[in-house]
Amino acid sequence: MHVVLLSGSPSQRSRGELLLEYARTYLESRGIAVSLIRVRDFVAEELLHARFDSAAVRDLQATVGLADGLIVATPVYKASFSGALKVLLDLLPERVLTDKVVLPLVTGGSPAHLLAVDYALKPVLSALKAQEVLTGVFAVDAHIVYPEGDQPARFNDELLLRVDESLEDLVAALIRRSGPLDARLSDDRLEPIRRSL
Ligand SMILES: Cc1cc2nc3c(=O)[nH]c(=O)nc-3n(C[C@H](O)[C@H](O)[C@H](O)COP(=O)(O)O)c2cc1C
Repeated sequence: MHVVLLSGSPSQRSRGELLLEYARTYLESRGIAVSLIRVRDFVAEELLHARFDSAAVRDLQATVGLADGLIVATPVYKASFSGALKVLLDLLPERVLTDKVVLPLVTGGSPAHLLAVDYALKPVLSALKAQEVLTGVFAVDAHIVYPEGDQPARFNDELLLRVDESLEDLVAALIRRSGPLDARLSDDRLEPIRRSL
């Protein structure tokens, strides 16, 4: 199983990315492979001019296309998700999220724009044909403390609980969705035996 962690923050120091790092550790400890893709690692011109044929954009399309799941982290910018993330999502093929489970992680300065996940981000994920979008987590800045020196990042206890629950939901959905695939694989293995009967 493979999950793409997509960071939509243009900032070098990103609270959303701290949540993604936490998610990485969580998923890897359960044997799930992860890849981190950050919007800030792309050449801005390739994004703004929608260079569908650039190597980085083709890589992005392939990596997301092959993933089983996606965690999308974004800051709230002006009551919506980040424009940089929108530019990136615009470069993905229309049906790229078919058969994938998606978990949104959104950070904001205050809870005032809590609903940005529902009215701004989820419709775009639906346009990419995401079949299963989990409830997701909205975190306020005050609940995420940057790492200092050797100290790791710290999360408010209640936030940590919600993040853990959402990651558990993600893992459960991935396992559930991989069921039919396992069945198909079993069928493939059974086919030569059937033919020999
Ligand atoms: C340009 C800009 C616009 C922002 N607009 C909002 C906003 O409308 N509502 C809000 O709650 N926070 C807003 N914030 C605060 C960020 O959402 C918040 O600090 C977030 O955690 C940043 O995520 P990051 O550290 O992953 O980049 C804004 C921050 C910036 C820089």
